[in-house]
Amino acid sequence: MRGFNAFGKRATDRRVIDVSGLTKHYGTYVAVDDVSFRVARGEVVGFLGPNGAGKSTTLRMLAGYLGATRGRVTLGGYDIADEAMLAKQQLGYMPESAALYTEMRVAEYLRFRASLKGVSKRDRETFVIRAMMRAHVHDVREVRIGELSKGYRQRVALADALVADPPILVLDEPTAGMDPNQIRDVRDLLRELSPEKAIILSTHILGEVDAVCTRVIVLVKGRIVAEGPIAELTRGARTVGTGIRFRGRHDLAKAITMAFDEIAKAAVIERGDDEAMLCLYWRSDVPGDRAVAVTEALMERLIAAKMKLRGTVDLAERGAQDLDAIFASLTRNDGLVPVAKDEGKAP
Ligand SMILES: Nc1ncnc2c1ncn2[C@@H]1O[C@H](COP(=O)(O)OP(=O)(O)OP(=O)(O)O)[C@@H](O)[C@H]1O
Ligand SMILES: [Mg+2]
Repeated sequence: MRGFNAFGKRATDRRVIDVSGLTKHYGTYVAVDDVSFRVARGEVVGFLGPNGAGKSTTLRMLAGYLGATRGRVTLGGYDIADEAMLAKQQLGYMPESAALYTEMRVAEYLRFRASLKGVSKRDRETFVIRAMMRAHVHDVREVRIGELSKGYRQRVALADALVADPPILVLDEPTAGMDPNQIRDVRDLLRELSPEKAIILSTHILGEVDAVCTRVIVLVKGRIVAEGPIAELTRGARTVGTGIRFRGRHDLAKAITMAFDEIAKAAVIERGDDEAMLCLYWRSDVPGDRAVAVTEALMERLIAAKMKLRGTVDLAERGAQDLDAIFASLTRNDGLVPVAKDEGKAP
């Protein structure tokens, strides 16, 4: 299998991830069970599933940081077990909790990482600067990593994954701990990079999946339970609003809601038991992360006005099924905690 040169057969599939029959046992516990999929150049694949589904375990095996019980992974045609060095050169991996050198300064750390990844001394500074620009850590380049906030540390870990400009990116919850602006930056970055790379991204934020992923894989109890283009899974559905279950004065709730420019209209629907649903509909130009931030701000104001809040639910277009609902139904079948709220779809 060894010995193909740059013009050999394998050069043609340099950007492809191929996973077949991947399995991981911890004692008698099966964390990952016969998982197979491929990712091609130009694809951004979202890896979804409830806590403990086996996402990180799969990604760790894929990146060569954990041995598989069974199965095979090739990155760009190189086997992660038998040709680990070559396979890892194809890959930028951002683990779930990145162990960064806290005493090092950001640029210094990235130079060090670039050298470990085989970036030549001549190219190193250019590569490091590009990665810092892409991950938006340029402004903290001389700060010690230990002094950075969680969101910024995540960005440094992302810069680390990007620094050698690998053709494959495997990112385990890259936006965990980031604020909405940072999340948007990462989303834009992935969109910008995607034509040239094969990308896998695990996340709990369904809006993120909607915005960047060309395809999703849903994992439950170590098995793939759904896979396909988002459009196919959601049948073209779109979240158009948010419902907030509450107790309190209806007219006041509505007035507080309409103070936000992002909200096109609001209505309060009686639900009995003293509880009502405040339904708000986003203006069509409001991006998902802005909607999340506004919802949070709105909920704070409602609480300040002495309303009792009971939970939120996404409102989809009538007759359409959104990703949250699909995900909830897939995961709930196994008696697992649903990520989406267990509400019917709104009016
Ligand atoms: N070293 C280990 N020893 C035993 N069990 C483990 C080990 N690592 C993970 N597991 C178990 O394997 C299962 C899958 O864990 P994994 O971290 O892959 O889930 P995940 O889908 O990434 O979840 P999360 O969304 O919480 O990050 C869990 O039940 C976990 O407890
Ligand atoms: Mg995980």
